[in-house]
Amino acid sequence: MNLLDGKIVSQAVKDRLKTHTEERLLQGKKAPHLAAILIGNNGASETYVASKVKSCAEVGFTSTLIRLEESISEPELLFKLNELNEDFDVDGILVQLPLPKHISEQKVIETIHPSKDVDGFHPESVGRMVQGLPAFYPATPYGILLMLEHYNIETKGKHAVVIGRSNIVGRPISIMLNKNEYPGNCTVTVCHSHTHNLKEICLQADIIIAALGRPEFLKGDMVKEGAVIVDVGITRVPDASKKSGFAIKGDVDFNDVAPKSSYITPVPGGVGPMTIAALMMNTFKACAAKD
Ligand code: GUN
Repeated sequence: MNLLDGKIVSQAVKDRLKTHTEERLLQGKKAPHLAAILIGNNGASETYVASKVKSCAEVGFTSTLIRLEESISEPELLFKLNELNEDFDVDGILVQLPLPKHISEQKVIETIHPSKDVDGFHPESVGRMVQGLPAFYPATPYGILLMLEHYNIETKGKHAVVIGRSNIVGRPISIMLNKNEYPGNCTVTVCHSHTHNLKEICLQADIIIAALGRPEFLKGDMVKEGAVIVDVGITRVPDASKKSGFAIKGDVDFNDVAPKSSYITPVPGGVGPMTIAALMMNTFKACAAKD
């Protein structure tokens, strides 16, 4: 069993970006600028956005954190987004999800200008990605690809089983893994809550992407010997032994699955840091596209 270490790979990606950003500055060009909007006081969202802002500083990007009250109205938020769309200095815009119930996620996603859509959630970004055109890839699946690439994991002709069909992870990674390029060329099966024989399907997988959001769902008896396991889960479960009062659990029962796997991501320290590295890549690309 080998660990797919997201901390090491994300650091390598960020080191490269830092160098490229320094090169931009030496050429008299601007540093990439990410604007992040955080609404309300969701603990997990606070943590993610803080990591994104910290990573911007590490790679030499400018960042603006905009904190808004839970009670902000939808028109007020859309107005703010339009201001950021028109602000030439801002290259990438991110609205941390989930949103308060009274705000339409779809409207927010569609209001961000596609040229600044560093989350890759806008229908134009998704459509471009599906058609194999240059596009912003959503950060989590993009981070998974960067990790597979870093470890030279063979993907051509492999059977990849994706568990989960969310717009953020499951569906886009299924499309990215069957693209006619590396890492890709997989035969992809997408499983979801209505899938019959999930265990039998997982047992046929060379690569499993677990992205369903159910802590420790994937067990050792569902995995073929030598499979590559990517765990996207990050559920907070109560744990009195921790100072924070919770532990982070993946969708994979690591101790049960790891001995059978050839490569496996830990949680935390696997896909999570890669998501942020991928967001930094997208922000750099958004900025460089304006040169
Ligand atoms: N919430 C969970 N994952 C994400 C993500 O990748 N981007 C944003 N904006 N919100 C999220």
